[in-house]
Amino acid sequence: MKKHITNLRQSFGIAFFVLASYCSPVSAQQIISVKTKSNALVLQVTPGKELNTIYLGEKLANDFDYVKIQGQFKQGTDYSGIYNAAYTPSGSKNLLEPAIAVTHADGNTSLDLLYVDHKTTTVSTGVSQTEITLKDNVYPIEVHLFIQSYYDTDIIEQWTTIKHAEKGNITLNKYASANLYLKGYNNFYLNQYHGDWAKEMQPEESKLTHGIKVLDTKLGSRANLFQPSVFMVSLDKPATEDDGKVLFAGLEWSGNFRTDLELDPLNNLRVISGINNAAAAYSLAKNTVFTTPKFWYTLSSKGKGHASRNLHDWSRNYKILDGKGSRLTLLNNWEATYFNFDEDKLKVLIADSKKLGVDMFLLDDGWFGNNFPRNNDDAALGDWDVNKKKLPNGIGTLVKTAKDNQVKFGIWIEPEMVNPASDLYKKHPEWIVKQPGRTEHYFRNQLVLDLSNPKVQDFVYGVVDNLFTENPELAYIKWDCNAVIYNAYSSNLKDKQNNFYTDYVTGLYKVLERIRVKYPTVPMMLCSGGGGRVDYAAMKYFTEFWPSDNTDPLERVYMQWEYSYFYPALTIAAHVTDWGKQPIKYRTDVAMMGRLGFDIVVKDLNEKDLTFAQQAIKNYNALSNTIWQGDQYRLQNPWGNDAASVMFVNKSGNEAVVFSYSVNSRYEVGTHLPIKLKGLQAGQNYKVEEINVYPDKKPVVETATYSGDFLMQVGINPNVNSTNTSVVLKITKA
Ligand code: GLA
Repeated sequence: MKKHITNLRQSFGIAFFVLASYCSPVSAQQIISVKTKSNALVLQVTPGKELNTIYLGEKLANDFDYVKIQGQFKQGTDYSGIYNAAYTPSGSKNLLEPAIAVTHADGNTSLDLLYVDHKTTTVSTGVSQTEITLKDNVYPIEVHLFIQSYYDTDIIEQWTTIKHAEKGNITLNKYASANLYLKGYNNFYLNQYHGDWAKEMQPEESKLTHGIKVLDTKLGSRANLFQPSVFMVSLDKPATEDDGKVLFAGLEWSGNFRTDLELDPLNNLRVISGINNAAAAYSLAKNTVFTTPKFWYTLSSKGKGHASRNLHDWSRNYKILDGKGSRLTLLNNWEATYFNFDEDKLKVLIADSKKLGVDMFLLDDGWFGNNFPRNNDDAALGDWDVNKKKLPNGIGTLVKTAKDNQVKFGIWIEPEMVNPASDLYKKHPEWIVKQPGRTEHYFRNQLVLDLSNPKVQDFVYGVVDNLFTENPELAYIKWDCNAVIYNAYSSNLKDKQNNFYTDYVTGLYKVLERIRVKYPTVPMMLCSGGGGRVDYAAMKYFTEFWPSDNTDPLERVYMQWEYSYFYPALTIAAHVTDWGKQPIKYRTDVAMMGRLGFDIVVKDLNEKDLTFAQQAIKNYNALSNTIWQGDQYRLQNPWGNDAASVMFVNKSGNEAVVFSYSVNSRYEVGTHLPIKLKGLQAGQNYKVEEINVYPDKKPVVETATYSGDFLMQVGINPNVNSTNTSVVLKITKA
């Protein structure tokens, strides 16, 4: 046993010190510590068997120092002794926000959770899992805390399972995934995000004050429309790109979430995150295991940039479907045609995809519905048969045309939804989320199908499966979700209506799981009327997401900047469209810092614009591995500067690309100072060359060789100004 522990400690930095033996009976001051490369989460079992957090921060050099931490804090009285509970129960001595609250089968609402044992196992190289068992000593209820450490990337995931053996169902009034405790800091600054359609990922920073700040959503399906679950907390002072201590976190859940940030009476920060319990007190049957979603977090002592690079590495390795793979460039017809197309028009666009030089043509909304044709957004959702008038020869002929043009073919669906003007609405009213006897409320003229119902799950799975069965060469799906849930009611759940919001999401995951069993790798874009849904549970099934319907490149500079803290470039779909008044060069340069696509009428491009776009796609193809798999450095913030600068360096350090964009059009604005590059080797020489130069224009940056030292200490001026509004520099090790 001793040898086993030593091995674990060496490989993953898991320590069981002061612990007499593995899974031993409780002794005083028993410590459970979970470590990553830079950080430690240290829990302590008290003599009364309560499990508390005593440390979450940078690893200490000496394991035995953790038990001395408590003695150094003179913050006042903890009247319950569990302000820092590792998973705060409710209804006993707790005085603060709980992580779990239950109503037992007999109606009693008290709970105490006491340590029983724990074990740590190896999940895979560099990934370890600590499972701690907690039990109530009055009621037969058991909670397991899971803490998964991804050593190299400093990411920790936490979740729980809840099970009981009471006579009858119990109700989970709250069932968080994680309950963190941060202490040792004078101040906490929350960076949160808010938004709406076309206004996603607007950051807001504020100092946390006493009481509870709640980040949450109750929208159900298009859950992130007003707020995503991702956030940052800077410790002591607001962190910058390269400086300061900061926690990044988010919930892996594509539905209602809730995060409580409670600055407690001792001035420490409690972070409790999980499924939103609003209208969702969950009825749990005897001996059924309820598993909460995972809550991920990472701590950086070197600012936000470091946290985000760790997160990108972690998500590409463990979370995103095909995270280490490549992506397809594409031409989408949404803004080029909207609903107004036919076979001939699409065939021209498919040929245009080839002409432009992208990998794929993506057919968007409007291809289905016959009794209720989809000529607008007010009909046909639910009726996934090809519209015979627009496409008399079906999808097959388009797939063939694409093949003849050596491009792939992808298609849009929105399978969770139904329009009242549809055959499905009439045929299966019991499949639809709506309150019996009440007025129906529509969001974009549609209603949501009840994914808690296995029959609806089969139907939604069938939408995808039928498409692939009929068109085996289909190469890509854009999965949209445009409506929130009003009038939440499931005729399937009968007297368990409070399980609806949760079961909807687990139903969605069941469908996606089935799709991935049969179609493991086909790329799928996650869209929700823009960025209404992305999170790291969904990204297990999707290869990329649509951040916003707002494709004005100026707006996208800001939005993609913010998204990029949490999601790597290969997941961020960015299309060149006709939104905004900027030249095609600016629009393309901005889209190139994500997964590049186009949504324009190619035939309307003048010759130079077309030549530019064709060359830019070639440049993108040559650099895409660096953008998708490299390390991202945010060099100059668009907020508060005239120009923004973003850099990607490939993992071997021999290639980089720097994108610079003007974000201000006032008189004589521009990059007056050089931009300092990052992530290069000081002693190496690098060739700097401007690419994406518009036809017949001269480069604004001369090709030259500089040392890494120079590029990082002095920097290089991309010469962005009101004439050269965007500049792309390719950096190659000389
Ligand atoms: C949503 C999406 C768009 C487009 C339309 C189609 O708004 O975000 O990209 O697919 O639906 O109706």
